[in-house]
Amino acid sequence: MTIKIEKNGRVIIATLNRPKALNALNSEVMHELALHLKKFDSDDDIGCFVIKGSERVFAAGADIKEMGNKSFSDMTREDFFSGWSDFTALKTPKIASVSGYAYGGGCELAMMCDIILAGESATFSQPEIKLGVIPGIGGTQRLSHLVGKSKAMEMILTGRIINAFEAEKMGLVSRVYSDTDLFKETLSTAHTIASYGKAAVIAAKECVDRSMEMSLAEGILFERRVFHSLFATQDQKEGMQAFIEKRSPIFSNQ
Ligand code: CAA
Repeated sequence: MTIKIEKNGRVIIATLNRPKALNALNSEVMHELALHLKKFDSDDDIGCFVIKGSERVFAAGADIKEMGNKSFSDMTREDFFSGWSDFTALKTPKIASVSGYAYGGGCELAMMCDIILAGESATFSQPEIKLGVIPGIGGTQRLSHLVGKSKAMEMILTGRIINAFEAEKMGLVSRVYSDTDLFKETLSTAHTIASYGKAAVIAAKECVDRSMEMSLAEGILFERRVFHSLFATQDQKEGMQAFIEKRSPIFSNQ
């Protein structure tokens, strides 16, 4: 198993587990991660996923040893990396909890998650240019959306390593914690998300995700329609009634 899966209340923690290869992301990791998380994606008792590595490394990239000898024809026929779309298609919010190296595919895996929380030791880089290639799991696209063209270009064209604080400042990372607090704070964020009604959480995630794809006018219309649709849920009635009655809501995912 290249992934360890644990359940913590309404949260699933997936830990990358290829320590000798610094959690390099080979095809097995790609398939196992999506396969295991998919089992929980429609489970009403699960409200958030956490993806983490070890203290030393989140993931040092796609597995260079797996792909190094492949030909253009191999890469095309296998549609190499296309399997990552099973991971990005998960509806449940995913938090990347990053300690140590998040390089190449590791940085891209973090960006495939919905929130990136980092420990002070975290470093990020898209070093593929040094290997004679370019990012291939969404790095050129997601990084540009997240940090803007100039900063994305600089990282991708130079392969420069940035630290957690710079990553936070440029908007790649949501928050930085001390390494000792990172997991506790990640779990706390995950439990907060998992405590809300799942339909509203999925709807909010879908709207933010769509904002990356749509024009502003289409996105605002999409958001408004999704907002309207939540008035068909019991959780909307409960959430608003609880506010009026000055009590905590009890969401039923209905
Ligand atoms: N793929 C395969 N194996 C890797 C790897 C990777 N991305 N990164 C590290 N490893 C392996 C090393 O080969 C080494 O294995 P051996 O013990 O069998 O020699 C082991 O992990 C430990 O690595 P190092 O000895 O290099 O450890 P270090 O502490 O000296 O350096 C590091 C750490 C700076 C992260 C360095 O390992 C490194 O630079 N790794 C490669 C980073 C990289 O280029 N990532 C991009 C990959 S391409 C990609 O991701 C394309 C894409 O868009 C998806």
